[in-house]
Amino acid sequence: MTLPPAGRVVMLSGPVRGIGRALAERLRADGYRLSLGGRDRDAIAGMATRWSAGESVSAHHFDAVDSASARRWVDETVAHHGGIDVVINNAGVVEGFGLDDYDEAALDRMWQINVKAPTLLTHLTLPHLRTSGHGRVINVASLSGKRVKGGFSPGYAMTKHAVVALTHATRQHGWHDGIRATAICPSFVETDMIAGVDVGEEPVIQPEDIAEVVSTALALPNSASVAEITVNCRLEDVF
Ligand SMILES: NC(=O)c1ccc[n+]([C@@H]2O[C@H](COP(=O)([O-])OP(=O)(O)OC[C@H]3O[C@@H](n4cnc5c(N)ncnc54)[C@H](OP(=O)(O)O)[C@@H]3O)[C@@H](O)[C@H]2O)c1
Repeated sequence: MTLPPAGRVVMLSGPVRGIGRALAERLRADGYRLSLGGRDRDAIAGMATRWSAGESVSAHHFDAVDSASARRWVDETVAHHGGIDVVINNAGVVEGFGLDDYDEAALDRMWQINVKAPTLLTHLTLPHLRTSGHGRVINVASLSGKRVKGGFSPGYAMTKHAVVALTHATRQHGWHDGIRATAICPSFVETDMIAGVDVGEEPVIQPEDIAEVVSTALALPNSASVAEITVNCRLEDVF
């Protein structure tokens, strides 16, 4: 069993609620230094102050539709923590529309937040991940990045397939510099995102379950790369 690599610096997007919140709590308990980026900087600053008086946990403004905020977040992280070992692209949105009721603006928002922002953050952090020697990129994709189910937002599934592709591109590109990338592909997770969605009667995945999976993936050495992790709460043919 590999011990969690305490002290390594993790950039995490969308840490205030849902899966991101569970990730922040778990990785803090594991002993990582955290650079938390999101739209509600005051809420994040409150978390940082409660947890570490702003020392090992730092708060940053990051809006996935604003490229300049991504650049500032990376610069501030390096200035505060001295480097970057892990990037977790967690922030994401789903907007439901089908092929009969095409909504170009919704599709553009999902591409920007779910795909373009993680791609930019990966690009911006690559030099630091290379310097680390054990750089890690975790992309919170979805089981909708592995298969298309019924009429559920084809645009969302398209963006999540793209995030899985980004993960493989990152793994291929960074391999010889010690960078490993993992796509986390869950089915329904109990967060605001599935409020109002008919998920049936059986229990669904808890955000803490995803945090457990990510914690384990991050603790693995360079010689044990896991490219994709699918997690399901329902019986499906393959996953
Ligand atoms: N819940 C599920 O069933 C499920 C399943 C598979 C994959 N996922 C993926 O898991 C990830 C986290 O989602 P969740 O389930 O925790 O949903 P959630 O509770 O709705 O959280 C979404 C997160 O994304 C952030 N976000 C949205 N737009 C943003 C923007 N423009 N800039 C920065 N941050 C933004 C939100 O920040 P604010 O607090 O500022 O709004 C929030 O932290 C997403 O990528 C989602 O696609 C979820």
